Amino acid sequence: MPTRSVRRNSLWTATGIVPQPGPLSADLQVDVCVIGAGIAGLTTAYLLAKAGKLVTVLDDGAVAGGNTQYSTAHLTAVLDQRYAKIERLHGLKRARGAAASHTAAIDRIESICRQERINCDFTRVDGYLFSSLGDPADGLDEELDAAVRARLWGVEKVARAPLGAFATGPALRFPGQAQFHPLRYAAGLVRGILRDGGRIFTATRATAIEGGTPAHVYTGAGPVVTADEVVVATSTPIGDRFVMHSKLAPYLSYVIGALVPRGSVSKALFWDTEKPYHYVRVQPLTPSHVWQGDQSPGTHEVLLVGGEDHKTGQACDHAERYHRLEVWGRKRFPMIESVRFRWSGQVMESVDGLGFVGRNPLDAPNVFIATGDSGNGMTQGTIAGMILTDLIMDRENEYAALYDPSRKTLKAVGTFVRENLNVLRQYGAWLTPGDIESVGQLAPDTGAVIRRGLSKLAVYRDSRGNLHQRSAVCPHLGAIVRWNQADRTFDCPCYGSRFDCYGKVINGPASRDLARIWELEALLRTPETAGDLNPTASW
Ligand SMILES: Cc1cc2nc3c(=O)[nH]c(=O)nc-3n(C[C@H](O)[C@H](O)[C@H](O)COP(=O)(O)OP(=O)(O)OC[C@H]3O[C@@H](n4cnc5c(N)ncnc54)[C@H](O)[C@@H]3O)c2cc1C
Ligand code: FES
Repeated sequence: MPTRSVRRNSLWTATGIVPQPGPLSADLQVDVCVIGAGIAGLTTAYLLAKAGKLVTVLDDGAVAGGNTQYSTAHLTAVLDQRYAKIERLHGLKRARGAAASHTAAIDRIESICRQERINCDFTRVDGYLFSSLGDPADGLDEELDAAVRARLWGVEKVARAPLGAFATGPALRFPGQAQFHPLRYAAGLVRGILRDGGRIFTATRATAIEGGTPAHVYTGAGPVVTADEVVVATSTPIGDRFVMHSKLAPYLSYVIGALVPRGSVSKALFWDTEKPYHYVRVQPLTPSHVWQGDQSPGTHEVLLVGGEDHKTGQACDHAERYHRLEVWGRKRFPMIESVRFRWSGQVMESVDGLGFVGRNPLDAPNVFIATGDSGNGMTQGTIAGMILTDLIMDRENEYAALYDPSRKTLKAVGTFVRENLNVLRQYGAWLTPGDIESVGQLAPDTGAVIRRGLSKLAVYRDSRGNLHQRSAVCPHLGAIVRWNQADRTFDCPCYGSRFDCYGKVINGPASRDLARIWELEALLRTPETAGDLNPTASW
């Protein structure tokens, strides 16, 4: 029986406001239609609008309401996948390209903040990759050599990370990294887009994309956007059934935000070498923040501790993961007064450790994608904006080949096979019993997957006791979703689609909600429409 748990609340939404323009209500003709208003979509739209293009941005939720609001916003060229691995998979020249492009992205964010006068606490800080004490396989020396070869500026090994009484093992210090408030930055990009003639529509879901001259983007409520180019910046691509998803693996990552006395934790970015690793930093609370807490912004700041990653839809101990993060944090940071924020979000790992930015494979040449952030989506999304703007403006970009979505990295074939075998295994859930035997066992504000004949249902009982039932079959490729009590979502263990407790899609690749019961029954009864549940059918 699922347990009750904490509700997700993010520091950024408690301390930042982003304008939310409202839905698209009529057909529109533009130069470029960007789907997705996270950091990748907004940066692309901002740079294109600045370059003179007429752009529109569509988002099915709120501006920056996707994974961008769940980031811890370490702005860094210290890649999660580590340079030793990147060099092994891609060679030295490409590892240097990765280091240079992420460094250029931090510089670009800094220059946008300056030009647009964005008050988002952008601050340059050092980054520290530290060894968990007693970890003989920390790989620090190997990573130091690889980072030096990749020409990351100024990297050096130090005896420990500057974390007060917390005795880390030896550490690598990476100067010139940065941090910011992601929603305040997003709000600045929105202002720039609107000023330069762009338009943004929220609560507007793109349901189909048709490349070609011109391209069309169809939306759920009816209006159609006609455009010369379409950019799909939806974190994981919609409109693609299989090709790109087989090169991506979705992971959920968890964060707690704890109040600590101001100045009690060094201002820097920190990562340890555990697997999965922890990531840490402090965020100042300034009087200009919209702060509804009881502590004064002048005396406290928020310590962010992240980690506990797992493949989306493949764990059911979400509350315990927050608890473990808190235990880990309190042991090392005794100055923690109280944990005020807990949230989780999804990162899209690419099988070869680098993002995918460029023309969508097997699609019309005027449909572009940005995905595969691999835990570095703040800089990766900015790189996407820089590359896609150059491709659309017909300009050279030195990093375009490195991030080309069509690339094949032969040395990553092992990870590719492992991740896709893992996906295939998830279809075994068609044969297993439900989480509970009957909906009568469901407590208020909990959900579960139950068996009904040959199929399964995603059921949620709201806090008033009303029951909401949908098919548990993910409309992307037909895997069975799983209940996530911490986020009140149904998560697909296949390629990471996520649905809210009422079955509404909130994360692709699915672009439709979980089917209503009568829709499911009609589909199963009618052979000619059964293709909607068939992995080979086109989107
Ligand atoms: C817990 C956590 C910590 C992280 N920490 C860091 C960090 O420290 N540093 C870092 O660099 N990165 C970090 N990341 C990664 C980073 O936050 C993400 O990679 C990045 O925000 C992704 O941005 P995006 O624009 O690609 O996607 P998103 O922000 O997810 O935006 C995609 C948008 O597309 C919209 N959308 C989807 N489908 C449709 C549709 N059919 N029609 C219309 N709109 C649609 C969504 O509503 C959403 O707003 C972290 C991520 C998590 C979850
Ligand atoms: S995300 Fe592909 S089947 Fe669910």
